[in-house]
Amino acid sequence: MREQLQALETVALEAVAKAANLEELNDLRVRFLGKKGELTAILRGMASLSADERPVIGQLANELRRRLEESLAERTAALAAAAKQAKLAAEEIDITLPGRPFLLGHQHLITRTLEEIQDVFLGMGFSLAEGPEVETDYYNFEALNVPADHPARDMQDSFYFGPQLLLRTHTSPMQVRTMEKLCPKPVRIIAAGRVYRRDDDATHSPMFHQVEGLAVDANITLADLKGVLLTFARAVFGEEREIRLRPSFFPFTEPSAEVDISCFQCGGSGCRLCKGTGWIEILGSGLVHPRVLELSGYDPEQVSGFAFGMGVERIAMLKYGLDDLRHLYTNDLRFLRQF
Ligand code: PHE
Repeated sequence: MREQLQALETVALEAVAKAANLEELNDLRVRFLGKKGELTAILRGMASLSADERPVIGQLANELRRRLEESLAERTAALAAAAKQAKLAAEEIDITLPGRPFLLGHQHLITRTLEEIQDVFLGMGFSLAEGPEVETDYYNFEALNVPADHPARDMQDSFYFGPQLLLRTHTSPMQVRTMEKLCPKPVRIIAAGRVYRRDDDATHSPMFHQVEGLAVDANITLADLKGVLLTFARAVFGEEREIRLRPSFFPFTEPSAEVDISCFQCGGSGCRLCKGTGWIEILGSGLVHPRVLELSGYDPEQVSGFAFGMGVERIAMLKYGLDDLRHLYTNDLRFLRQF
């Protein structure tokens, strides 16, 4: 029996030492020390022992039980410690790693361009005027001397809500609204915002943005217009820019001029951007038509004015080299993040 106990101890201690996890250890405890375990099985033989031998074997068995329990406890502690170590290692944070930067957004190209344009004119003493996007036929056309049979009034070109109400097709109605409000005082404003036309291709969108400018005072001349626009062109497209006024027509200005800037890509020698001409059209302008002044309450004999209007998307496309205006509206982050 002594040998049996010895053999049991050897096997058991070895098994405990090899146990890979707490579950295995538990199985071993049951197998060796449990009620139906191997030690109990051996001790069943006690009955056949002599009275002298019984206490000796009994003591041996108790000592064996104690040593086995100790080794189980030790192994349990060792496995728990190893598990804790592994968990800590897995959760380790390297505080020397650089932090992950927050993703910062930035202004949309249209907003950025619009604010840049506004800043230039605010710097020249213009103030901001604001008005409705849903306009009456009177402000959008009539008061701007756009005759009733003018093609711009066509349902094909404008978004109407009814015979008298439409989405403004340009920011020029703000000329009239401002003059009505300020008359007879001098005017020096810009008005920016959304405008709407039935257009949709690579360079036209049904909704786009314009910046309108208007100055009304005694003795305003074409030279004032030219000076203001030259300052603008140089501030936005570079100090070397020149401008050129090309005779044109708008019902609400007389004379009217389309304004070109010298090409900022080739400097004027001719390239793809300026289609070989050396000039790029950026806006429409002119001296306020006497009839428009009159309709808004001013006396064209006493005051004169200049006005201009430009497309913000067009300026942004030129400035940032975009080939399709629709990039500005699809909000593809791969596109937007480039700027
Ligand atoms: N409103 C004109 C347009 O949308 C631009 C313009 C504004 C022209 C002011 C002259 C004066 O095309």
